[in-house]
Amino acid sequence: MTMSLSHAAYRRALRVMPGGNTRTSNFEKPHPTYLVCGSGAYVTDVDGRRYLDFQNNFTTLIHGYGHPSVVDAIRRQAGLGLSFAGPTVAEIELAELLVERVSYFEQIRFTNTGSEAVMIAIKAARAYTGRDLIAKCDGAYHGNYDVVEANVTTPPLAGTERPTPKGEHSGVARSALSDCLIIPFNDIERTRKIIESAADRLAAIVVDPLPSRIGLIAISADYLTFLRNFTLRNSSLLIFDQVLSFRLGYGGAPVAKPNFPDLCAIGKIIGGGLPIGAVAGRTDIMAVFDPARADRACVIHSGTFTANPLSMAAGLAAMTALPRSEFDRLNVLGAQARSLIAEAFASVGIKGTVTGEGSLFRLFVGPEQVASYADTFAAAHDPRLRSVVVRMRERKVLLSSIGLGALSTPMTGTDIAYLAETLEEALRSLKSEPT
Ligand SMILES: Cc1ncc(COP(=O)(O)O)c(C=O)c1O
Repeated sequence: MTMSLSHAAYRRALRVMPGGNTRTSNFEKPHPTYLVCGSGAYVTDVDGRRYLDFQNNFTTLIHGYGHPSVVDAIRRQAGLGLSFAGPTVAEIELAELLVERVSYFEQIRFTNTGSEAVMIAIKAARAYTGRDLIAKCDGAYHGNYDVVEANVTTPPLAGTERPTPKGEHSGVARSALSDCLIIPFNDIERTRKIIESAADRLAAIVVDPLPSRIGLIAISADYLTFLRNFTLRNSSLLIFDQVLSFRLGYGGAPVAKPNFPDLCAIGKIIGGGLPIGAVAGRTDIMAVFDPARADRACVIHSGTFTANPLSMAAGLAAMTALPRSEFDRLNVLGAQARSLIAEAFASVGIKGTVTGEGSLFRLFVGPEQVASYADTFAAAHDPRLRSVVVRMRERKVLLSSIGLGALSTPMTGTDIAYLAETLEEALRSLKSEPT
């Protein structure tokens, strides 16, 4: 049997990259699928197989591949210059668009990634409050900054005691973890006990309104109100991580006054497919970044490629092509996807469920309900989920390895029906051949 071109590419990669890998999230046994090009909602691998893509580069490509105005903007900017040492008007234009769309974005600052956005939001909170401790939810992913690289895939917190943060993997500084507090998502009473015990050191609580790793379960209105009131009373900051969930609507994830966060980290869709992140929020807090501060106590944040004009131009084009009506249409399609996925489980007679909001969904094989990180943790270890994702890929539909899917604007009801049909086929084949 001849080796696939993906397999050959992997063998080649093994020689020059540890584990053949440069993005841990791409690691896959026996080898990952190497992709070569995309068009609309479809992507093609090196072996010429064409897939309906619900990965969209980890939810980033909200317009799929080759959106004409994004491609034109990149071409135009590439002709003008790829990057400069000075600022460009392109960054002001994208900043204006974002500040105009989200009422609690008073000022904004760009970064190269979502991880960096979370990092500088945390640094801003520390500079503003003069405190170091950061609370994050058990099971939540916030990227690659040490203090939040704790308790992402570890077993869920048990009991009511104050938990010791666990570094997610080697390389995370133990000293950084001493500035981290782990709280259980949507559990007011246990969270209250944990944060009250360290209130005088608490700089900020970081929370994602729709945390994918916790299970793509929305923050409850009561929990959000509790966090907002506690942080206000305690002079700590409330930071939203909407790096992923900003795609939920024209103004990001739905949140009503008075529960607006003080700062918000965003990324992914706002770069039109190119590297980006941003932190936005209250002017008085964002002032910690102002190099003109009289007290010279500003938070230093720079970066060779920060606000590079290619990402700014692509982001502006992508976001301009997302009026309210387009978010509404995508969100209707998302609701349709979740309902057809639930029907597929029912019609095959395999237990499973789907979570998510807007244009995001996450499927689970096994549980009939997922309402907490404990539910998600148990289900994520069921090998049938992985098997369903692989079977769907064999049928030319791509989902992330955790069963997460993100819609893109070129998708229509036909694509959503195809997703559901493919899931049904994958579930039927799992039923007849479980291994
Ligand atoms: C909620 C959340 N925060 C932060 C990040 C990190 O963003 P990036 O991968 O751009 O560094 C991600 C990435 O998936 C994310 O989903």
